[in-house]
Amino acid sequence: MTREITLTRPDDWHLHVRDGAALETVVPHTAAQFARAIIMPNLKPPVTTAAQAVAYRDRIRSAVPAGMAFEPLMTLYLTDNLPPDEIRRAKEAGVVAVKLYPAGATTNSDAGVTDIRKTYATLEAMQREGILLLVHGEVTSPDIDLFDREAVFIEEQLMPLRRDFPELKVVMEHITTKEAAHYVASADRYLGATLTAHHLLYNRNAIFTGGIRPHYYCLPVLKRETHRVALVAAATSGNPKFFLGTDSAPHPAHLKEHATGCAGCYTAHAAMEMYAEAFDAVGALDKLEGFASFFGADFYGLPRNTGTITLRKESWTPPESFAFGEAELKPLRSGEALPWRLAV
Ligand code: DOR
Ligand code: ZN
Repeated sequence: MTREITLTRPDDWHLHVRDGAALETVVPHTAAQFARAIIMPNLKPPVTTAAQAVAYRDRIRSAVPAGMAFEPLMTLYLTDNLPPDEIRRAKEAGVVAVKLYPAGATTNSDAGVTDIRKTYATLEAMQREGILLLVHGEVTSPDIDLFDREAVFIEEQLMPLRRDFPELKVVMEHITTKEAAHYVASADRYLGATLTAHHLLYNRNAIFTGGIRPHYYCLPVLKRETHRVALVAAATSGNPKFFLGTDSAPHPAHLKEHATGCAGCYTAHAAMEMYAEAFDAVGALDKLEGFASFFGADFYGLPRNTGTITLRKESWTPPESFAFGEAELKPLRSGEALPWRLAV
């Protein structure tokens, strides 16, 4: 039985770090594990200009503890009127991607896209400049069942978009269904997908076990077991189209434990440990390095990292909570033992 694995230092290709005092808690957690992370732009207000992305990058860099090397990779938030010109400025500023949130799909997505056709001139500029499109792949229509929104998005939005922009690199973020896994696996090299640790470890029962459990509520919501099994198969397949993106999304505990609790699972405190657990459960630890450390960098056209991290099979229990500005942050698996531990 494997007791210890050493991997090339991984990257997180989908991360929320928020802003202000929250950065002091969450950035060190990610920097302890990952060399780089794709930073989501859904602040209030969202990051919609190259100048805002650069200023946000500086604030994140200031929260990296001395002696740790961590590079935030910045994104812009796509709106109905993000000017194509901003794409050129973004490219010059080192921004790597633009995030598409359908309006109303999730946390801070009110400024999101109401009609994808309104963004076509901007998508054209992205295709030309080699800026990736990162997609929150859910339709928002209230007529569509919450559990079907990803599959419907693929048919109604993603397929036409990819036909119209065949050389735009697209990442379907945090996929949650077998439909998405199959669609991505069968697509050409311009489409990839990220997978979260929580969608690999849990199905929707986790939200309802012994009462409603808001810390397991995220969007896209956890699905049934058949989907989880398909996601694990995709992540452990060795197919380079599937790579790591935690979607770690911190919220103050009192806003999750609320009548209308916020969507988002916080996993940055133990991300690699949870991925190791999911891969180990199907005997696929040998596939973890490609998924966590190589395939995302290759897809983005960035160099692979050079350092390493080591994970040990050694039980430990994450704290019940972390300080989060004035509030409290409850991580996933708080107070519950984890079988894998990052060696320091
Ligand atoms: O659960 C989620 N939380 N899904 C998202 O798409 C956004 C994220 C957040 O920002 O909290
Ligand atoms: Zn996210």
